[in-house]
Amino acid sequence: MNRIYLDHNATTPPSAAVIDRVGAVLREEFGNPSSVHHFGQRAKAALDEARTHVAALLGADASEIVFTGSGTEGDNIALRGAAEALEAAGRKHVVVSAIEHEAVLNTVKALARRGWRTTLLPVDASGIVSGDQLRRALAPDTSLVSIMHANNEIGTIQPIAEVAAIAREHRALFHTDAVQTAGKIPIDVKALGVDMLTISAHKFYGPKGVGALWVRRGVRLQSPLTGGKQERGRRSGTENVAGIAGMGVAARDALAKMSSEQPRLAALRDRLESLILTRVPGTARNGVQEPRVANTTNISFDRIEAESLLIALDLEGMAVSTGSACSSGTLEPSHVLKAMGLPPHRTQNSIRFSLGAANTNEDIDRVAAVLPEIVDKLRSLTRQPAASSRR
Ligand SMILES: Cc1ncc(COP(=O)(O)O)c(C=O)c1O
Repeated sequence: MNRIYLDHNATTPPSAAVIDRVGAVLREEFGNPSSVHHFGQRAKAALDEARTHVAALLGADASEIVFTGSGTEGDNIALRGAAEALEAAGRKHVVVSAIEHEAVLNTVKALARRGWRTTLLPVDASGIVSGDQLRRALAPDTSLVSIMHANNEIGTIQPIAEVAAIAREHRALFHTDAVQTAGKIPIDVKALGVDMLTISAHKFYGPKGVGALWVRRGVRLQSPLTGGKQERGRRSGTENVAGIAGMGVAARDALAKMSSEQPRLAALRDRLESLILTRVPGTARNGVQEPRVANTTNISFDRIEAESLLIALDLEGMAVSTGSACSSGTLEPSHVLKAMGLPPHRTQNSIRFSLGAANTNEDIDRVAAVLPEIVDKLRSLTRQPAASSRR
């Protein structure tokens, strides 16, 4: 079966160039980058090269890049590390958006357990936070704010430059989780005006288990990891040299292809979206059309259980996800759609389609051709009342 992969926000397949580079480093550049001999210095050179590529993707200085073991680890080092350094001053209030990934939401829950006050910033039905809401949430003890650059479930892009400026006026540190934007939209950390920014390689055709945290020079971080002095003491532990080198190649290629690839994906995504919304009755897009990352659409199917639709599509060779992949396996409604104020028949019946490099017009045609029939069949098997007759 010719399978169609439409779950690129969960992970992307490493590109051939990435696989080649990872293999070459594993074979030939196996030294410990902290060693002073030839083998160590070759490994160190591989890190330096990758650091330059990752910095270019973010408009950053290479010396400000901290390689991490994942996006989750980057979010943790940023928030726990900043919190630890800020605590001494007694301002222990953190503000994050209600639609963050679990990597941020569960980290602020951990901060709450050690005495931090936390505020979840609401979003409107479009899935976007507002500067006014942030201003209302800020208090004299607010020292840390984290708002994601784009949401992983619905793809909406947040007004980071605006909210970061508000946090700065308030003398609060600002972190953004850019895991879903790195490689998809241009990022310039200076123009965004943020203090810390997290990315993860496997979302842009790099390997899994490697990421980066950009930390503006001068920001004080007390890393939650204790150990050696790697990554200027911000991420102790011998670096995953092969993975990092692979991320470097992925960053270089994402930047080189961005201006041609992203409009291509947007056109495919828009076609898929309009075919579904016109051909399948009882469907609605979740979140605004723009600003959104080019590859993502999230659609609710009335009177359908999302898991059943996912499985039916998988049987046809089409891989999609229900809301966030990280929480699939549970039948919990999406916390993102709930935060947007959508009713239960929208929060439990949503499917995320996230496109990527290998997808073509033919893929979109195949998905749009099978969906109406699958949805009809699933609806005929259930006896749920129509949404309009529900409370
Ligand atoms: C917005 C966002 N943040 C963080 C993560 C976690 O990244 P990683 O899988 O590298 O830990 C993800 C992954 O789904 C994500 O989408």
